[in-house]
Amino acid sequence: MTEGEGALHRLDGVLSTSGYFWTLCLVGEDQSEKFSRLTSELRAPFSATGDGKRISSGFSYWGVESTVAWLHACSDLFYPVMRASIESFPHRWSQLLPSVTGQGFHYVSLGTGTGHKDHTVLETLQRGRAGELCYVPVDVSPEMLRQGQREALRGLGLRASNVVPVQLDFAGARNARRLRRLVEELVGDEPVLYALAGNTLANFESDTGLLAMLVRELLRPQDRFLLEVATTGALDEPSALAAAQEYQASPRFGEFVTSAVMQYTDLHIDMDSVSFEPAVEDDRALMVKVVYRNRTGAPLRLTLPDRSRIDFPESDTIRLLITRKYAEQGLVKLLGDARAQEVDRYRSGSHAGYGEPRFGMDLMLLRSAAPAPAAAPPPPNPFT
Ligand SMILES: C[S@@+](CC[C@H](N)C(=O)[O-])C[C@H]1O[C@@H](n2cnc3c(N)ncnc32)[C@H](O)[C@@H]1O
Repeated sequence: MTEGEGALHRLDGVLSTSGYFWTLCLVGEDQSEKFSRLTSELRAPFSATGDGKRISSGFSYWGVESTVAWLHACSDLFYPVMRASIESFPHRWSQLLPSVTGQGFHYVSLGTGTGHKDHTVLETLQRGRAGELCYVPVDVSPEMLRQGQREALRGLGLRASNVVPVQLDFAGARNARRLRRLVEELVGDEPVLYALAGNTLANFESDTGLLAMLVRELLRPQDRFLLEVATTGALDEPSALAAAQEYQASPRFGEFVTSAVMQYTDLHIDMDSVSFEPAVEDDRALMVKVVYRNRTGAPLRLTLPDRSRIDFPESDTIRLLITRKYAEQGLVKLLGDARAQEVDRYRSGSHAGYGEPRFGMDLMLLRSAAPAPAAAPPPPNPFT
């Protein structure tokens, strides 16, 4: 091996020509630390309302079983939310193209999922571009990264060394800073398009806090952020109920949403104990909390992955997932509080028949609203 030509350099050749689908993956944090967070979240005190024990967003997708269950749910005819979002994405994305074309963006996808949307974005960013395009898919689940990448890269001919998958929980500020540093090392000052699609933001308890952190830690003045969120035209009980029914109707979604608790506890899953609880969250969004409630009529004991045992009394709950559909005023406040400024937006699906809920999906292109850092003053002239 000659100097300056290490094994990493040679990997490019192996990845491009071996005829086998290798995936590289940079692991950005200790999985054992995450493991201990998962168990501590399951040790929370009693709550009959889904506000104690919980599986927080990243953990819903973390393991192989959850990843497979998610990929199945995305193609379920009875789970229209994600299927419609994936199928209609190319058209909706094409409406934003005038705001991104010709600017030479690199692409960082926060939560790749099936990879279909990444494929659409990469295909357009690659068109007519002068330099090489760099793609950084980021996900908590290595299996999601591998499966998503297969779809995202299909037929694009991207150079293997320009694809840098990262296994990382992007919800922590320290991790986001690490990611930004990595991206800057890869692309320098060239602009980056970040994406958080599929209404992923709505799965986080503090959605505003997450968006504010990502905008603050990741976005430089030249970068943009693609955000996809589910929307509602009304904030009332019937709409909240209809939102809950969208999820409840899908057996595949039921398998996905219980998959983490099935992997990480010895709870015997009874689907009748899973409830989809609708609510109106202030004047901003409809919320659906998916909870597992002990309805056996007796206290249970659960074993956690570290072999510790916890009580799971009658009526106690484990929150499996939260999701939302945002009202327009909720979105305006969300962006304002997160110091994100709208550059372009495509709204879809807000029209409905009489008596039907007005649900839709908005695709927004954002920039940081924080003022650009002032240029450093010139050094003093020693001759004056
Ligand atoms: C709702 S899916 C959306 C997938 C894709 N963006 C789409 O629109 O089809 C959420 C994705 O984000 C990933 N994810 C969720 N929480 C995460 C976290 N805290 N850190 C990293 N990835 C996360 C999941 O593994 C999954 O791939």
